[in-house]
Amino acid sequence: MFGMIHRSARDMVLAQFGQQAWDEILKRAELDDTSFVSGESYPDEVTFKLITTAAEVANLSVDDTLHAFGEHWVAAAWGGPYATVMTVLGRSLGESLANLDRMHASIQIAMPDADLPQFAILAEDEHRIEIEYISNRAGLENFVRGLFRGLMDRFGIKGEVVYAQAPDGARIFTILMAQ
Ligand code: HEM
Repeated sequence: MFGMIHRSARDMVLAQFGQQAWDEILKRAELDDTSFVSGESYPDEVTFKLITTAAEVANLSVDDTLHAFGEHWVAAAWGGPYATVMTVLGRSLGESLANLDRMHASIQIAMPDADLPQFAILAEDEHRIEIEYISNRAGLENFVRGLFRGLMDRFGIKGEVVYAQAPDGARIFTILMAQ
């Protein structure tokens, strides 16, 4: 994945655990600053190594670490250099989810090598939104849950995000909104 993802992970670790933890992660993962150039693409193994080592150092599960990173990514995106990209999303949770593909498509223009996911809204009412996640990558479901949680927080929506794989393999997330 692109170095910008790694940089964001670094920001999260520095904010929550400090420089010492970050240095330890780099040492254990055998990574150095060359893996953190925003516009460069790195093998996914580097990204996964970074996440699993961060989990180890923080004494968290990989799933919880991915979830925390998803939440962090959304919160940081609204405040960082990509804030204008995020405005494409819209003013409600439903609108934002519907516009995710459009937002990533605008990123694809700047980063032709990015392998971006797609999202399809399958059902929506005032209590729940069912959304399919389509990606060439495996193992990021808890990252996606964290991203949805981050979007919910952004719009002040309480509730939960449930993940289930459909019999045909489709990866379905259901956002249950508390009233
Ligand atoms: C301004 C905000 C955002 C930017 C700049 C951005 C950009 C990117 C980039 C560059 C990648 C890596 C692709 C690669 O390395 O091949 C990525 C991956 C991803 N993005 Fe976004 N993104 C943003 C917001 C979001 C949001 C709000 C969501 C969902 C709620 C989302 C969902 C994902 C997921 C799930 C992946 C992992 C790749 C995969 O599943 O295959 N992104 N994004």
